[in-house]
Amino acid sequence: MKKFYITTPIYYVNDKPHLGHSYTTIAADILARYYRSKNKEVFFLTGTDEHGSKIEEAASQKGFSSQEWVDKNVEEFKLLWKRLNISYDDFIRTTEERHIKKVQEVFGKLLKSGDIYKGKYSGWYCVACESYYTDTQIVENKCPDCAKQVERLEEESYFFKLSKYQDALLNYYEKHPEFLQPSWRALEMINFVKSGLKDLSVSRTKVKWGIPVPGDEAHTIYVWFDALLNYFSAAEGKNIWPCDVHFVGKEIFKFHTVIWPAMLMSLGEELPKTVFAHGWWTVNGEKMSKSKGNFVDPHVFIDNYGYDAYRYFVMSQIPFGQDGDFSERSFFEKYNSNLANNLGNLVSRTFSMLEKFSLKGINSEIDKESQLGKLLFDFDKRYSKFIEGIEFNKALEIIWEVINEANKTIDSEKPWNLYKTDKNRLEKVLKNLLFSIEIISKSVLCFMPETSEKLEKIIAERKVTEPLFPRKDNVDR
Ligand code: MSP
Repeated sequence: MKKFYITTPIYYVNDKPHLGHSYTTIAADILARYYRSKNKEVFFLTGTDEHGSKIEEAASQKGFSSQEWVDKNVEEFKLLWKRLNISYDDFIRTTEERHIKKVQEVFGKLLKSGDIYKGKYSGWYCVACESYYTDTQIVENKCPDCAKQVERLEEESYFFKLSKYQDALLNYYEKHPEFLQPSWRALEMINFVKSGLKDLSVSRTKVKWGIPVPGDEAHTIYVWFDALLNYFSAAEGKNIWPCDVHFVGKEIFKFHTVIWPAMLMSLGEELPKTVFAHGWWTVNGEKMSKSKGNFVDPHVFIDNYGYDAYRYFVMSQIPFGQDGDFSERSFFEKYNSNLANNLGNLVSRTFSMLEKFSLKGINSEIDKESQLGKLLFDFDKRYSKFIEGIEFNKALEIIWEVINEANKTIDSEKPWNLYKTDKNRLEKVLKNLLFSIEIISKSVLCFMPETSEKLEKIIAERKVTEPLFPRKDNVDR
């Protein structure tokens, strides 16, 4: 059976990973863990994008060779994924031999088929930024990035016949509405393709840090052509093709839904089933940027609140797909109310009652007549629908609905009174609560693996030895 294949973008290694990178990776991890829990075989790929002029520049500015620089920075990504308990099956680096070989092989194949051809590239070139810009990008003959004068330049370049695939792409979008996700983002791509595709320049003579064009080493292969192929080179010999879900940020949706499928069509390969674009985080209402120096460092939150709390916060805060805002204040508040109070108290209250009323020996049992039982009854179905539909915040919402209803049940049933007046009812209530905690434990597994493990232990031992999420008293920022 073909494995379920999930990917994240491969990240540029010119800097440390931040909130944005962690977000996509956590989302992919959730889906991977979910399908594994359903006994599906999963292949979860992440990695790093290591070529190109930006990396070359960053390395030389810091006094490193490009290779030394990427070797050093890739460790930052691996460390963060370890601390966030990311369960990837493979980590691909574009400087690895297996990838370089594949990219050159693909390039050669398309050269041979005629879908890659040599031509002339002309555009507005900025010497300072070492980049080309189009007529519409430049502002009064000035570079849109650094505002220096640009010049008209022409150079030899290899081109990929993207224009040839315009109709085939439109046709594919129409026949496979699940390809462009979320669906409200589809129209923008469809209109973009309808407006006309130009052939794509896929080689550079000015960039040295890249994969050489086979047989013409004055050229290196354009980083995006190189990078997109990571999904393909990592799949070599693994019986996982085609990819089931590519998770990407919205800014690289176009690369993944226009260029990438056209490349695969040209190769005669099957196309990915879904490309899902999520939104962007701002921080305290502002864009994260180098100049503002406001990148959120996930390590700070992992240190203060634990990695499960971080995973929970980013997935519950905004609907996956939409933009949203990150602030330590909202993190702190959500931590205390949803994790320490609602979840933490439910668990500690339930198990201390079992102890106090000498009911540790009971088994869980759903009480279908109760409000809580009604929520639990078709919980799995609703939960799976949300996760498989990549609506992670909704899956979390229904877990918290159960948690809140369970807490309400304790308040309204008043077990300490039932202990004196109605032992049968008391048992029934506690069995129902135990059932709800078992469901909660299973369903938080893909979001908060450590919490789920702790809950399993608590359920097995029938006792809470330390609080799941200790309350925090203050927030510094
Ligand atoms: N190397 C390319 C991707 C090649 S994939 C074949 C790249 N790398 S990147 O390091 O810039 O990472 C981009 C990804 O980081 C985005 O797709 C998104 O997943 C994530 N984010 C970066 N900033 C972000 C936010 N502010 N908010 C949410 N995620 C964003 O592009």
